[in-house]
Amino acid sequence: PSAAPTSSSALLTISGGGGGGGGGGVGFRGLRKPPLRIVVTGGAGFVGATLVDKLKCARNSVIVVDNFFTGRKENVAHHLRNPRFELIRHDVVEPILLEVDQIYHLACPASPVHYKHNPIKTIKTNVMGTLNMLGLSKRIGARFLLTSTSEVYGDPLEHPQKETYWGNVNPIGVRSCYDEGKRTAETLTMDYHRGADVEVRIARIFNTYGPRMCIDDGRVVSNFVAQALRRQPMTVYGDGKQTRSFQYVSDLVDGLVALMEGDHIGPFNLGNPGEFTMLELAKVVKETIDPSATIEFRPNTADDPHMRKPDITKAKQLLNWEPKISLREGLPLMVTDFRQRVLSEQS
Ligand SMILES: NC(=O)c1ccc[n+]([C@@H]2O[C@H](COP(=O)([O-])OP(=O)(O)OC[C@H]3O[C@@H](n4cnc5c(N)ncnc54)[C@H](O)[C@@H]3O)[C@@H](O)[C@H]2O)c1
Repeated sequence: PSAAPTSSSALLTISGGGGGGGGGGVGFRGLRKPPLRIVVTGGAGFVGATLVDKLKCARNSVIVVDNFFTGRKENVAHHLRNPRFELIRHDVVEPILLEVDQIYHLACPASPVHYKHNPIKTIKTNVMGTLNMLGLSKRIGARFLLTSTSEVYGDPLEHPQKETYWGNVNPIGVRSCYDEGKRTAETLTMDYHRGADVEVRIARIFNTYGPRMCIDDGRVVSNFVAQALRRQPMTVYGDGKQTRSFQYVSDLVDGLVALMEGDHIGPFNLGNPGEFTMLELAKVVKETIDPSATIEFRPNTADDPHMRKPDITKAKQLLNWEPKISLREGLPLMVTDFRQRVLSEQS
């Protein structure tokens, strides 16, 4: 039965219609692409759950592997009765054996609050978790996609950042468990490609927001929205002139699928190139939620990048992908979800 969480060490096989390894690009009896068998690690999290919704729409069989550190069963509960969906409670630091065509490897705490909570566990997740999922890809011939991050560019000396930029990362700072963890995960991914012929994809994701984000994860958009809804001052760290780009989650998910389905090895920036200072973002949140909302300044956190903006020329040209949803369009969709959750915590 698909609804029951399964033992983490079980060998699972779901019938997928003959997709075969390496992404199933071949047509079914020359007609149309068969549904695929897909694993999404971290699929009960914010990005993962949105990705699962999109993959399920295409009639694929999906297995979510998640240890629920920051993810929630509620995020995928609407699929539990579907026979083509399975949810496995499992920590990717331990090996797992599954038979699938594609692996989207998202499992990793993504917000500073969560990845700094237990930095050694974060680096283990990035290194051992990625190693385990790459080993699985090699063994079963599945295509592998790593969700890396714009944090691999650190506090960038090049602006906007292209995929060719090697970054400016502090290797011994409080954020290194995440930044260097993801850089190592990228290294492992490319070495499995060069050394073991695994078909790999790397998405360097820039700040993404949308419904189902953890409310108190300390990321700037969720912070501002939750604070404005709770009628608390919005906290700006430093002078608020740091810049970020903000991508709506459905745009990201479209990019992840385009990358997985495409033919291109190596990293791709997936982000919205629109650039906002923290103060500009606070203004948009105010206009969307509460014009009387106030701002409170606090000292900045260590190693906070001064600027971030993706150069997405490569993704535009090779994947025919670019974000469609502006901050002013996407923010109200997130606010509707957050408003319900904030109200339910007050009732
Ligand atoms: N959201 C963004 O702005 C952003 C930006 C850059 C990169 N990313 C990357 O995208 C991926 C998803 O991020 P998100 O925003 O959805 O974060 P999230 O915290 O909502 O989701 C991460 C998921 O991974 C699970 N997880 C964590 N450690 C695990 C482990 N050891 N074993 C199994 N599951 C584990 C969590 O329970 C959660 O469901 C992450 O790899 C993150 O680094 C996200």
